[in-house]
Amino acid sequence: MTALAPVRTEEDDRLTTLASERYRNDQRLSGDWNETLDTLLSHRSVRNYLPKAVPDSVLHLAIAAAQSAPSSSNLQAWSVIAVADEARKSRLNTVAGTQRQIEQAPLLLIWLADINRPRKIATDDGAPAEGLDYVESFLLGVIDAALAAQNAVSALESLGLGTCYIGAIRNDPEVVARELELPEGVFPVFGLTVGYPDPAVPAGVKPRLPQSTVLHRERYDTTPRPDDLKNYNAALGRFQAEQSIPLIDWTEQVKNRIGTVEALKGRHLLGAAARKLGFKLK
Ligand SMILES: Cc1cc2nc3c(=O)[nH]c(=O)nc-3n(C[C@H](O)[C@H](O)[C@H](O)COP(=O)(O)O)c2cc1C
Repeated sequence: MTALAPVRTEEDDRLTTLASERYRNDQRLSGDWNETLDTLLSHRSVRNYLPKAVPDSVLHLAIAAAQSAPSSSNLQAWSVIAVADEARKSRLNTVAGTQRQIEQAPLLLIWLADINRPRKIATDDGAPAEGLDYVESFLLGVIDAALAAQNAVSALESLGLGTCYIGAIRNDPEVVARELELPEGVFPVFGLTVGYPDPAVPAGVKPRLPQSTVLHRERYDTTPRPDDLKNYNAALGRFQAEQSIPLIDWTEQVKNRIGTVEALKGRHLLGAAARKLGFKLK
């Protein structure tokens, strides 16, 4: 009796499509497809939005998803400010070097590491809050804010909205803090533009490094893999051509981003800024 060939399902085909868009190499993904995986693997930053407001119901769903993220010791050391006012958005955009997506997006969420709340809980009770004086607490707030934000991103994408992180608000955290009247112990980690993607300018799935570059097993593997980088430069180049954005190798982008203090666009002063905003960073 001849063995029957395994039946390819629509789900297998969808995983193959998702893998090929994400990697543009021979990476295969198999197993059970589901909508959560589809949303996660289809992520792309959206920088062109329709002039359509984000309903409050959507904002509340996004925040519920954000609050559903894990949180270190459940301290929930983060907050978020929803900015829809055009004038305020525009002033924040100045800090971010004037990015078109901030201008276009109906909503800008500013994600905050917030150790003001736990400090107040302790001090209102006359209790010490010594633990908040260390780098650990800054990191904890930043990690909590990032996990929350990314859950919101996935929720928004599952609802058909698009987002783009805006790390550039860290170019000048003190100006952001003044604009948003942040109390002591609250640090702006990044912004997030939110809106309905403009179908006239569809964003593509940006390929990622091969899994062989990032996935190590049991120990860190330092074997050089020059082909990984060469192939990734080529894959990203095809994406750039399709999106009509400047062709530049990823390895060049990395070097440009890390090469000089100037490329940090003011963020080399973050330690000092965080201290001024109430983080002791011992
Ligand atoms: C913390 C963080 C900050 C970012 N800041 C910016 C930014 O200021 N402007 C921007 O256009 N994109 C920004 N991005 C988006 C990245 O450029 C984008 O995620 C990356 O190129 C991968 O593309 P993809 O999100 O479409 O997959 C940021 C992303 C992260 C995670």
